Amino acid sequence: MRTLEPPQGHVDKPRDALIHLAGMTLAAAIFAVDLSLPLAYAIGILYVLVIVLGLWTDWRPYPVLSAMGVTTLLVLDVVAGWSDNPPPVIFVDRPLMALVFIATATIVARFKQLERQSFANVQQLEDLKRALDHAAIVATTDVTGRITYVNDKFCEISGYSREELLGQDHRIINSGYHSKAFIRDLWRTIANGRVWHAEFRNRAKDGRFYWVDTTIVPFLDARGKPHQYIAIRFDITARKAAEARLAQQAALARVGQMAAVVAHEVRNPLAGIKGALQVLMSRRKATDPELPVMRDVVGRIDSLGELINDLMIFARPRPPRPTTFQLRPLLAEAIGMLRRDPAGASLEVAIEGPNVTLTADEELIRATVLNLLLNAAQAMNGQGRVTMTIAEQEKRCVLQIRDTGPGIPPEIRDQVFEPFFTTKARGGGLGLPIARRTAELHGGTLTLACPDSGGTVFTLNVPLRALPAPEEPAA
Ligand SMILES: Nc1ncnc2c1ncn2[C@@H]1O[C@H](COP(=O)(O)OP(=O)(O)O)[C@@H](O)[C@H]1O
Ligand SMILES: [Mg+2]
Repeated sequence: MRTLEPPQGHVDKPRDALIHLAGMTLAAAIFAVDLSLPLAYAIGILYVLVIVLGLWTDWRPYPVLSAMGVTTLLVLDVVAGWSDNPPPVIFVDRPLMALVFIATATIVARFKQLERQSFANVQQLEDLKRALDHAAIVATTDVTGRITYVNDKFCEISGYSREELLGQDHRIINSGYHSKAFIRDLWRTIANGRVWHAEFRNRAKDGRFYWVDTTIVPFLDARGKPHQYIAIRFDITARKAAEARLAQQAALARVGQMAAVVAHEVRNPLAGIKGALQVLMSRRKATDPELPVMRDVVGRIDSLGELINDLMIFARPRPPRPTTFQLRPLLAEAIGMLRRDPAGASLEVAIEGPNVTLTADEELIRATVLNLLLNAAQAMNGQGRVTMTIAEQEKRCVLQIRDTGPGIPPEIRDQVFEPFFTTKARGGGLGLPIARRTAELHGGTLTLACPDSGGTVFTLNVPLRALPAPEEPAA
């Protein structure tokens, strides 16, 4: 905001002194002219100028004192009779002038008071704005939603510069998370002059998401129509993340309870059923027409057993037990295990890149690789190529597993890492969540990309030496 006047308490002393001096000199000069040109008594009205100088000084008594001063000069003149003005003139003329002086002094004093008041108001607004800018993310827009002002915090959190934001509308930070109806409700509310409040997910310039508690207040004109909106936001990203973590922990705790029941009540009887079937099978001739059916049943029991295992691992992850090993032989072992699965029997699998030595939980890493290989095999119906590329970057091991399958549709890419999300008739939807958690337990990441050239690429990025296992939060 523009500064109108030097702030109160910082009175411009030298300027005031100069004006006071000018006032006195002017009064003396007018007095001298008034005396030496006795007939030009209208000259006396120029004393008003002395009082008007009060507009430029911050010394409050100035208008009154100067009016009193010039009136004294008039009275002196009348009493001493220096200017030889004829009595009727002087007795009517001089009191009238004194009246004009008092009126002028009142006007000047009143004006100065208003000026001080409005300055104090502006100052207070400025202070409020400064306080708000410190506390919140602030933006204003015109009625069409075009951004007309953003504060530093807005630039900071969104990652955009002020120049990039001004003149744009808020679609620039839209994360696409909220429904059209939600946005429509926002606009309807503020266009009707009402305040809108909600939690909003935005996207920063670098693609990062952030959550803000948002209040939008319309500024209304005299007819009650909005002419501007101010949006005041607070960063609640950390709270949102904590809430999500809590919800996930609660879900995990429930899964954990269920897994314990399932393990006990289902896994043990299943093992019994499978054993009994195998005994029956061993008593049949190899040509028995019922043998393939029994083999199929055993196959299904095995996949049920795997699902239960996954459930147990997911619900009760164990902290990594790091050992030091070579990655290439581990990948070869995983390929060997893949071959035993019907989907992976005739897949082309290649390993590229240098061998690296890893310190990590060998068993967990092998299970993760096998999981990704099986997913690729299933996505390609057993026909296609998988390339595993090893690279070493800044003390980290980067393993890419690329397939020539159909890829993952963009609309479900976010979901495939969620527990129990599956597109398969007999899938458990726990493979990727477990794989990602294994990566995270090692201080690493598991990400996915679907290049334009087709297929799916999963990238496992873990430190060459696994960090000590992070404390699992008590569920
Ligand atoms: N390589 C891949 N190509 C295509 N889709 C994949 C691939 N890997 C995973 N997916 C998708 O991700 C989903 C979740 O995978 P996952 O968590 O392993 O569970 P599941 O394999 O039991 O379905 C799969 O159902 C599939 O739709
Ligand atoms: Mg899977």
